[in-house]
Amino acid sequence: MTKSRPKQGKSVFVRTYGCQMNVYDSERMTGLLKPLGYDVTAEPDDADLVILNTCHIREKAAEKVYSELGRLKKLKTAKHKSGSDMSIVVAGCVAQAEGAEITARAPQVDMVIGPQAYHRLPELLARAARDSGDVLETDFAVEEKFDRLAEREADGPTAFLTVQEGCDKFCTFCVVPYTRGAEVSRSVDAITAEARSLARQGVREITLLGQNVNAWQSAPPSGEAGAPWGLGELCRRLATIDGLERIRFTTSHPRDMDDGLIAALGDEEKLMPYLHLPVQAGSDKILKAMNRGHTAEHYMGLIKRIRDARPDIAISGDFIVGFPGETDEDFEATLGVVEEIGYASAYSFKYSRRPGTPGSTMPKQVAEDVKDARLARLQALLESQRAEFNGAQIGKVLPVLFEKSGRYEGQLIGRSPYLQSVHVTAPQSLLGSIATVRIEGVTPNALAGKLTTNDEAAA
Ligand code: 5AD
Ligand code: SF4
Repeated sequence: MTKSRPKQGKSVFVRTYGCQMNVYDSERMTGLLKPLGYDVTAEPDDADLVILNTCHIREKAAEKVYSELGRLKKLKTAKHKSGSDMSIVVAGCVAQAEGAEITARAPQVDMVIGPQAYHRLPELLARAARDSGDVLETDFAVEEKFDRLAEREADGPTAFLTVQEGCDKFCTFCVVPYTRGAEVSRSVDAITAEARSLARQGVREITLLGQNVNAWQSAPPSGEAGAPWGLGELCRRLATIDGLERIRFTTSHPRDMDDGLIAALGDEEKLMPYLHLPVQAGSDKILKAMNRGHTAEHYMGLIKRIRDARPDIAISGDFIVGFPGETDEDFEATLGVVEEIGYASAYSFKYSRRPGTPGSTMPKQVAEDVKDARLARLQALLESQRAEFNGAQIGKVLPVLFEKSGRYEGQLIGRSPYLQSVHVTAPQSLLGSIATVRIEGVTPNALAGKLTTNDEAAA
């Protein structure tokens, strides 16, 4: 047998599907593997270890994993023939939901790890090497996971920071309560320590993550007395960290938007004027069937209160069309809410039947072609609102945090307070800092502008 050339270190390739929480988890996994000698590689072909960090939220997302596993099987076989090896790990929510089924359907998979167990990756890799058998680890032990996460290395001026995980809401369409478990909040001390460490490394903006981030609640920091803190208080505390200039959070639930958080959005300057607050549907009948626990009127009243506190806030949302029982009239109610609110950005989906969720067995499932037509109408409306919101920035002077170089020489790409991508000709020295930009144009996916002079910025 011909052995391939011995390599210096080992390499890991991670493919991330789904939400920002998976992006965060993938970064943590590569962080945990670094001390074991694993460097990150951009292509699976070079990798000794491939991790698919998966998403189970809609059928399509889960299917993608099995097609990727098909491609990896070929690669693994080719590697074996040339005398080298490659381990395949399936992590994330498909791992949690389909566990044993994955190893049965895809025997090329060496390890299946749920989202609450990946902190044990080094130990599980060692076990797999020793026993040369499949490993399945999908226990829920989220506090232990948070405790054992290594101090992380920052990667650029922005970072995600998970503060809350899991969901107790049980919307009838959603798999998250089953894949991510019950709501758990990290402590103020752990979160501030992670945020401080990131700020020291040059991070200027953090996005606090949670499936229901505004359900975050925890005892005050050690040494301080008082009632439990909510997300508003946490954001105010994080705002005192030197070097940290911007705070965002996602995803919020309308039922958990308390007065403290609304007040913080109103007067805490480091909290960015952008709020992702999904409503899913506009008909009260459908909201009830979805078990959302609020009406359309409650949602619209809430947005009004938030806008009273922070008039320029950009609102974003998620929508599902074609939930079981949704009639044309119900769908019109969704369009009505969208017209009423005016979204700066939004995500919209066709309802996808997820095994094990109450919605999947409800009567009056909606035909696929009806869902297609409704989605097209909704997306056209949302797209026109997005274009209007972006167009309204022309002529404004906005602070932009520069995150990376652009495609053209001398170009930097940053973000406005409203999370819009902004393209500017600017010196590399501005990477990682905030400068003011006069917005002069819009393209479908970004704003374009020029750096202002100091006089203009002060005006
Ligand atoms: N079908 C379609 N969309 C879904 N989402 C969650 N579950 C489903 C499903 N079964 C959407 C919701 C949620 C977002 C993350 O994904 O809009 O807010
Ligand atoms: Fe899913 Fe609803 Fe929980 Fe969001 S609130 S994660 S949509 S069950």
